[in-house]
Amino acid sequence: MSANRQFPEGFLWGAATAAYQVEGSSTADGAGMSIWDRFAHTPGMTLNGDTGDVACDQYRRYREDAALMADLGLKAYRFSISWSRVLPQGKGASNPAGLDYYDRLADALLEKGIEPLATLYHWDLPAALDDRGGWLNPDIADWFADYAQLMYRKLDGRVKTWATLNEPWVVTDGGYLHGALAPGHRSRFEAPIASHQLLRAHGAAVKAYRAEGQHRIGIVVNLEPKYPASPAPADLAAVKRADAYMNRQYLDPIFKGSYPPELKEIFGEAWPEWPAEDYALIAQPIDWLGVNYYTRNVTRHDETKWPLKAAAVRQDQAAYTETGWEVFPQGLTDTLLWVKQRYGDLPITITENGAAFYDPPTAEGGRVQDPLRVGYLKSHLNAVLDAIEKGVKVEGYMVWSLLDNLEWSLGYSKRFGIVHVNFKTQERTPKDSARFYAEVIAANGGAPLAKGG
Ligand code: BGC
Repeated sequence: MSANRQFPEGFLWGAATAAYQVEGSSTADGAGMSIWDRFAHTPGMTLNGDTGDVACDQYRRYREDAALMADLGLKAYRFSISWSRVLPQGKGASNPAGLDYYDRLADALLEKGIEPLATLYHWDLPAALDDRGGWLNPDIADWFADYAQLMYRKLDGRVKTWATLNEPWVVTDGGYLHGALAPGHRSRFEAPIASHQLLRAHGAAVKAYRAEGQHRIGIVVNLEPKYPASPAPADLAAVKRADAYMNRQYLDPIFKGSYPPELKEIFGEAWPEWPAEDYALIAQPIDWLGVNYYTRNVTRHDETKWPLKAAAVRQDQAAYTETGWEVFPQGLTDTLLWVKQRYGDLPITITENGAAFYDPPTAEGGRVQDPLRVGYLKSHLNAVLDAIEKGVKVEGYMVWSLLDNLEWSLGYSKRFGIVHVNFKTQERTPKDSARFYAEVIAANGGAPLAKGG
């Protein structure tokens, strides 16, 4: 980053993780199983049969990790709460040891001057609720609101920024349409139902927050701008479908009270009609929006692709990450400007941005050189600045991820961390990207954002 570009005063610098990806001990001390425990333990579902049984062992090493964050100068940590750790059956009796863990985690962070940002749902539905239909059961809005209320009562005051769901699009697309993620269903009929119940649950949790919470609540979505591969009308129509499906499917109902019309075109007879009261529940005003950005998509019409009839076009001249995603920082600026223009001027935090690259195996104990990740972060931070200079209210940036961790069905094969984790010894080694990030934070100072009431 050029030295003379500054982030606004008080910009919130942090890093993000998710419970199943880092905690380990996922069924210890009275915790119930989640759909990810079940999925990862089903043969063939994850690469090499990797599971989150141990992951980064953050459940036991959270103090060490809080100290590490403080050493890097982080001002915030975005983590998620494992629903089945605190409510083993998803509802009903809570698990004191699970609640105590998040209590201690919040305190450990605050002791180090790190602001906790909590996400209530990052993909790990209690298995007991999946047995009752999971995200297909309309009762889930109440189950989720009750769980949310339990956590607000426990942590609000210490946690001042809440997110209901992480990436409902991935929950639906991966979990109910294509089946690569838990619970592994493949159904054109289920996907729209899961999306809708996720949104109702979000709305119910926001409503519950208004009765309990003192601070701020929002949602985290992953946005990926779609650019046409050519000006041909078929490609432009494919872009509209892809954009509606991924970028507008959740934000339109929340901010505009209706689904994008393209969804009916995509899902056909599988697209249900919903009662008006559902839309009213979903469209609760929120206080902030979390945007996860990784890449863009150059899109063309492709009759063979189910159900979108749209395909991604690889860019010959571009750089790609280890997960096959094009490095395209301009897409982050475009996305932020698009959010402001379409949904209004609400405060935004970049809740995830980062990249998996191959890190040299010489990492253990020494320096980990990850110049590609440094380059990725630098260009994307500049892209954030471009958006801020054009008037987008970006309040913070959470790098994905603090630690190398379990990349869901890709297991431990993809490393996103700015801190290297040796999964045999659990040794943490800050990579060059962590040092770079620490320098950016030091140069752009800022106390945690003042938030409240
Ligand atoms: C998710 C993370 C995931 C990351 C990289 C996001 O979709 O929220 O859990 O590890 O992307 O794939």
